[in-house]
Amino acid sequence: MILATGGAGFIGANFVLDWIAATGEAVLNLDALTYAGNLESLASLNSDPRHAFVHGDITDRPLLDRLLAEHRPRAIVHVAAESHVDRSIHGPAAFVRTNVEGTFTLLEAARAYWGGLATNDKAGFRFHHVSTDEVYGSLAAGDAPFTERHAYEPNSPYSASKAASDHLVRAWHHTYGLPVLTTNCSNNYGPYHFPEKLIPLMIVNALAAKPLPVYGDGQQVRDWLYVRDHCAAIREVLARGVVGETYNIGGWNEKPNIEIVRTVCALLDEMRPDPAGSHARLITHVADRPGHDRRYAIDARKLERELGWRPAETFETGIRKTVRWYLDHADWVARVQSGAYRDWVATNYSAR
Ligand code: NAD
Ligand code: TYD
Repeated sequence: MILATGGAGFIGANFVLDWIAATGEAVLNLDALTYAGNLESLASLNSDPRHAFVHGDITDRPLLDRLLAEHRPRAIVHVAAESHVDRSIHGPAAFVRTNVEGTFTLLEAARAYWGGLATNDKAGFRFHHVSTDEVYGSLAAGDAPFTERHAYEPNSPYSASKAASDHLVRAWHHTYGLPVLTTNCSNNYGPYHFPEKLIPLMIVNALAAKPLPVYGDGQQVRDWLYVRDHCAAIREVLARGVVGETYNIGGWNEKPNIEIVRTVCALLDEMRPDPAGSHARLITHVADRPGHDRRYAIDARKLERELGWRPAETFETGIRKTVRWYLDHADWVARVQSGAYRDWVATNYSAR
């Protein structure tokens, strides 16, 4: 089995669902269930013995030691993090705690566990760190996309804390020999995305005829990847990646934010027309994010060259699926918006 951290969040839940469907291997899912953790995203695994959930924090070393000793995973996929840039601007402490201290604690627990494994298990063990392209900073319009060799130039408290975690992971390999893999991925979108991030926020606001807040001129560029493509890339890297290497993951889909928002509006106009007029009438430019990175772009050729991975979805197919998913899962959205999803643990687990 493998241990996944943060498996109740957006990418983590998609990863757990994808992993079990694709490999059939069991997952021990450790998640603190912050506001971003939602076990309802994993409701389809409720009676599946291949998914075991543990409500706990990655900064809790005794818990980590106990879980590793009891379950003896062959790999750790570290997804847990504080992940929202705007929240990191308002309250950076949680980002340093989870992303830096939490990664450090997990690395130390992994090192102790790995050190005690028998030779074969030790050679096969992997610590896969899931990170972001934001560690590389911001590109100007004509700059080449980020390769794995790009300098680290993080600009937000979020990206600085992720950069710090990447450095710790690197050092635990170079100093202690821990068999690590790191992936740096571009912006994800897809099902189970908490509606504080651009794409799900625009979908749920448009459906409620609320303003669609575009920061500044909306010309900031991100490279968008459908979340299930990210999950497939993690599987490939975990299976065949070279220990100690980092791999960039991207969708080859650079788009300015305003174009993303207009695309979401056009799809909603088609799938759920509003008698009051096009959803694009709701677009509202608001004050820019402080220190807002202008452009991210990923060069994912290393992953393609060495492991043969390419995204299965184009932006057009992925965004259509995503909008459809939100229309078909109004209950999931409503329970996130009302906060009812946070009662799920008590409802589902208290009697077990
Ligand atoms: P998310 O905020 O949706 O989910 C994070 C999960 O981690 C939640 O379930 C939360 O409860 C859990 N968590 C937070 N603090 C914890 C702690 N101290 N102990 C245990 N669990 C804790 O995040 P996401 O968007 O799914 O991102 C997951 C990872 O992928 C992050 O490491 C992020 O940096 C990286 N990433 C995200 C994107 C993206 O576009 N969302 C892109 C590239 C990389
Ligand atoms: P976000 O989804 O927060 O991801 P990140 O900042 O990690 O790239 O934001 C994506 C882009 O959308 C980013 O340039 C900020 C912008 N944005 C808006 O214009 N309006 C919004 O309400 C949000 C949440 C983001």
